[in-house]
Formats: sequence, structure tokens, C-alpha cells
Amino acid sequence: MKASIRLDLDHHVGDIDRRIFSGFVEHLGRAVYEGIFDPASPLSDANGFRTDVGKALRKLGMRFMRYPGGNFVSNYDWRDGVGPLAERPVRADFAWKSIEPNTFGVDEFVNWCRWMDIEPMMAVNLGTLGPREAAELVEYCNFPGGTHWSDARRQNSSSNPHGINLWCLGNEMDGPWQAGNCTAAEYAARAQQAGRLMKGIDSSIELVACGSTGRYMDTYLEWDRVVLETCWDDVDYISAHRYSRNSQDDSAWFLAEGVEIDRVLSDYAGLLAYVRGVKRSDKKVYVSFDEWNVWYKDRMIDGAWSRAPHLLEEIYNLEDALVCAQFLNSFLRHADIVKIACLAQIVNVIAPILTKPDGMLIQSIYYPFQLFSQHASGVSLRPIVDGPTHTAGVRGEVPMLDVSASYDPQCESISVFVVNRSLTEDIEAQVSVGGLRAKPDIETIMLTGDDPKAHNTWERPDVISPNSGTATRGANGQVFLKVPSLGLTVARVQLEQRD
Ligand code: AHR
Repeated sequence: MKASIRLDLDHHVGDIDRRIFSGFVEHLGRAVYEGIFDPASPLSDANGFRTDVGKALRKLGMRFMRYPGGNFVSNYDWRDGVGPLAERPVRADFAWKSIEPNTFGVDEFVNWCRWMDIEPMMAVNLGTLGPREAAELVEYCNFPGGTHWSDARRQNSSSNPHGINLWCLGNEMDGPWQAGNCTAAEYAARAQQAGRLMKGIDSSIELVACGSTGRYMDTYLEWDRVVLETCWDDVDYISAHRYSRNSQDDSAWFLAEGVEIDRVLSDYAGLLAYVRGVKRSDKKVYVSFDEWNVWYKDRMIDGAWSRAPHLLEEIYNLEDALVCAQFLNSFLRHADIVKIACLAQIVNVIAPILTKPDGMLIQSIYYPFQLFSQHASGVSLRPIVDGPTHTAGVRGEVPMLDVSASYDPQCESISVFVVNRSLTEDIEAQVSVGGLRAKPDIETIMLTGDDPKAHNTWERPDVISPNSGTATRGANGQVFLKVPSLGLTVARVQLEQRD
């Protein structure tokens, strides 16, 4: 089958904010303990940081790391996790019914981020704590010194401020499962008050308000409208979360998930424009898609009051990786509103990496993230795709190809990201760039396989991993790309000089 992808360097959606390549790590299961921090492992350094995990994560080029939750944050007291280890309390964690030893807290997290060359993105508890404790955490982290909390930081860890720039005002506060769950109006008032106090301590910080948890919630968008109408002048982003699931085991349907992700982002684009309009505001608020992934197989959320229990240890297969690629495609296609996006999560818990004390396994979803993070830069182009469609279960007729593209003027190159949703049909896509010619050396990478359920195992760790792809240059300088069924093809094309 054939398709055409037409690009024009002047038709772009917006600059690609590199913060869309961010992650999320929560005190949940084995994400922190035995994940990034594992003093007992022979693979850890003197700080207890897992060096193998660090090395694998560095290759993902993540910009920000959201922490410490998630549901965990809504009953977490950050003060438990700072100061001398011997004085830190062991707590019962409400969210995941686990024992929290508090041997890893704010300062350890910031040290880990510095070691990783990643910026911290800190969430505050607006469930069972309030604006005051949130502002005190800003004081602890960002105030230079001479106050109670800034001096405590100087004593505990660092004379220099941690300089944390990005802050989340709670987590999924519309969810009945959330400690301190409340109405939109109550949350909006809480978030506004907290935001004002926090920015009062450090006016340079940026704030993310909680959006509704997802399209399946009754609160969807209406919650967001109330929050945005109240907090428009106080916040910089509204959060969106989505976990995709193939619960009906219908791969054709699941592989069209990008249609739904696009719809959610269009909804947010409309809402943001609406609130800006009714407020007659010149300000812009953007989307922080700060939890996204596939998650439905391992729903074990009860830690039975143990330490570092095995929770949410999802095994990822090929179709999951192709859905992850569609999240990233959609973020690029909505580069004008999506400025931050966090893969949830990074290790052991719904994660691209699994650990055991002396080893690590890379899962399928690692690779789309790596490929997009390495190759998407500059501006996001608006691709015009003409290609076959197929039926995706109850989603109906959908395009077989899901496409995004970027143009980097610095190196005169474009990158094209193409997912083929078909389970059976290979597609040859002709890519043309507004009359410009591709140089002969075209870098092409493919992530594909025959079986949507194929996945990496400890015994066979490379079942799903990228290979080089196939691309040729046509007589007019266009590119012919092979996009196999059940596949992601990424092509990086250098352009010949424009006249
Ligand atoms: O990432 C796992 C959980 O999913 C998070 O704690 C919560 O925010 C979401 O519901």
C-alpha cells in the first residue's frame, strides 16, 4: 500500500518544547526504592543511586522529572523526608498501602536530578496539607538563607538554593481515590491560595494546576474550566493525565489510540482559548501532560503494608510501544499547547526499565521515547497525510498512518515519525518537503515485529528493539519510506541548500 506525507517548512504548529521529554517518579512500589535508589545493590554508587538505571535513563534525554507523586503526594509531608536519617519517621502510606521509610526525600531527589542532569519538577500536597506547607517547601528549596526553612536546607544538604522552577499544585484532586479529594471550586481556591504564597516566596517559579484526571471522569473539562477561570492569572499550566488500555484485547482498536489522544488535546485547546477569551486575557496557559503511558495489565495497587512492594510492574509489548509513539506524535502535533509531558513512570512502576538487584531490563516503550527525544527538535511541522484507512473496532474508520514531523533549522534537517497501525499491511510512504530535495544519506530506524504481544524478557531482552529501516531517495529529491505493519519508522533527512 502507498501513502504520501507532504511537509512544508513554513507550515508549522509551534516550537517543540524539549520539556515534553520528561519523566515522573513516585514513592510507589519499587520506583524510588530498588529503582533509582538502592543502596544495597552492587550496581549503586556511594549515594545509593543505581548507576545502570541512571545510564539507561540518560539516553532518554529527559528534561524534567516530576516527583514525589502522584497519589502519594496527597498525604505526604515533605518534612518527614529531610534532615538526619535517624530522625526521619517511618510512615504508613495511604495511597499504596505501603511502608514509607523516608530515607529518600527532597534533598536526595535533588541530588539525584543533579547527578542525572535533569531538572526537578516538584508536586506539593494539597490534599491533607495546605498552602502554608507548600510555601514552606518553596522556602526550603529556593530561598537563599536566613530563614527557618532555608537554613534547614543549608544545614541538611546545600548552601545554594535548589532552584526548583516547576511546581505542581497537588495531584488528580478530582479523583475520589485521592486524599483530600474535593470539588473543583474548593480545589481552585486552595490552588490559588497556595500558588500565591509560593510565588510570593519565589516569583520566578512556574505552576501547574490540576486538571481533571481524564476523559472518563464526570469532571472532565468542567473541572478544568472552573479551575482555569479561578486561577488563570496565578498558574502557567493545567495538567492532563491519560493511561491507555487494551482491556478488551482488541489490537486494531487499541492501535488507533492516537485518535483519542488528539481529541483530548483538541478539547484542551478549545477550553484554553475559551477561558482566555472570556477573561479578555493576553496571557497564555499551556498543557502539562504530566502523566501518560499505557497501563492496564498490572493493577496491583495494595502494598500490604510492606516496603518497596512489587506494584504496577507492567510488562510492555510491541503494541504498547506503538501507542506510546502515538502519544508523542500527538504532543508534537499539538506543540502549540503542550509544553510539558511526563512519561509515567520511569523505573519498575509502569516503566520502560525493570530492575533486579544485579540487573536491569529495557522494555519496549523505552524505544519510542528514545527515538523521539533524539530526533524531534526545532519546530513541529503540520504533515498532510494522504493514505489508506482501516476499521479500528468501535472507533470506526481511522487512518492507518499516524504521523508527526519536525524541522530543525540549525542543521537543516527534518525528522518524520510514522506509526503504521495496521496489523497486516506494509505501507510505502512518499515524503516530500515543499519542493526541497533530500540529501542522499537518510537515517532510518524502525521498531516493529510480527506479534503485537511480543515483549522483552530477562532471558530474551532484545525481542523488541530498534533496527535500521529502509528509505530511498526519488528523482525529485523526495523520500520513499518503508513503514511496516505494526511498526514505527523514524527518518532523519538532511535537506539540500535552498536557492
Ligand atoms: O502513576 C500511577 C498513578 O496514576 C499516580 O499516582 C496517579 O496520579 C495516577 O492515578
